[in-house]
Amino acid sequence: MKAIVYHEYGSPDVLKLEEVQRPTPADNQLLIKVHAASINRSDWEGLTGKPLYARFGGLLKPNNRILGSDIAGTVEAVGKDVKQFKPGDEVFGLLLNYGGGFAEYACTSGNAFTLKPPGMTFEEAAAIPQAAFIALQGIRAKGQVQPGQKVLINGAGGGTGTFAIQLAKLAGAEVTGVDNAEKLDLMRSLGADHVIDHTMEDFTKNGQQYDLILDVIADRSIFAYKRALKPNGSYFMVGGSVATMFQSLLLGPWIRRRTGKKISILMVQTDPKDLVHITELIETGKVVTVIDKRYSLSDTAEALRYLGEGHAKGKVVITMEQNNKT
Ligand SMILES: NC(=O)c1ccc[n+]([C@@H]2O[C@H](COP(=O)([O-])OP(=O)(O)OC[C@H]3O[C@@H](n4cnc5c(N)ncnc54)[C@H](OP(=O)(O)O)[C@@H]3O)[C@@H](O)[C@H]2O)c1
Repeated sequence: MKAIVYHEYGSPDVLKLEEVQRPTPADNQLLIKVHAASINRSDWEGLTGKPLYARFGGLLKPNNRILGSDIAGTVEAVGKDVKQFKPGDEVFGLLLNYGGGFAEYACTSGNAFTLKPPGMTFEEAAAIPQAAFIALQGIRAKGQVQPGQKVLINGAGGGTGTFAIQLAKLAGAEVTGVDNAEKLDLMRSLGADHVIDHTMEDFTKNGQQYDLILDVIADRSIFAYKRALKPNGSYFMVGGSVATMFQSLLLGPWIRRRTGKKISILMVQTDPKDLVHITELIETGKVVTVIDKRYSLSDTAEALRYLGEGHAKGKVVITMEQNNKT
């Protein structure tokens, strides 16, 4: 099968379209014929090896040679222990090792997968998993946003952020989205009450305070985030700098004891029920999936470059050439 393979960390130039062996499902796995995959910042991090946590699976060279965690496709075969899916099912979800998706076929336990509704395209389904898991947990399960609360989403114009804005508005919050200038209109169109261009204004220094900050792109000291939280407010770091991560782990509990402000890392759970839930919200028109651009598998390097250079508004999707009818 064809796959986008890399053997060293680097720029998109290290990605090559190669012929590799099709994976074989273990007894507890399904083999999926991939129709569409989507790009997440985790793919960019896995490609560049930055931040350092992106090298978890290989300090000097990537162990996982194929990136891509979010896919939608058709079940081709199942191992003997798989009960919840059968060949022919149209499914979508997240590959739990955060790799293997930029290929014509992928194997998975299916533990973070669900059936794709017939009315949803493979492209739209592929754009959902990782971003929706994070947004649902950040805003609902952990964030527990209540009507009238002030919520700030840092990195709100990307994959996670575009879902998070909509979920926070559905919960009745007053929402501030922070991203670069290219994405301000998009954030407004999704319901953000206030938007901030991070290159022009530092939201931790403008005197505003929030009940919840969901931070996709943590790049400041946690003392800056503490300043931007209301008493008893919560800050959740989803991704970003390793220094901020360590500060959250080491100093978060101390800050909470002293001030009541909760600063922590959101460790995302991948319960397929969340995929069912977000699908219902999409099918009933309460939430929309924002797909900025589509690329073919052979152009995956360009797709990653587009995201890495800061242009992607919402999601970027890869469509397999051999079956790009969705
Ligand atoms: N905690 C967990 O369990 C877990 C699980 C999975 C993934 N993750 C992490 O979650 C993150 C998910 O990101 P995603 O896929 O939603 O990313 P994304 O689609 O790239 O969105 C991030 C957005 O933030 C913007 N941005 C960049 N620098 C900024 C700054 N200084 N201030 C404000 N906004 C800024 C980006 O704009 P530009 O285009 O200009 O860069 C982009 O629009 C990744 O870091 C991933 O590793 C965490």
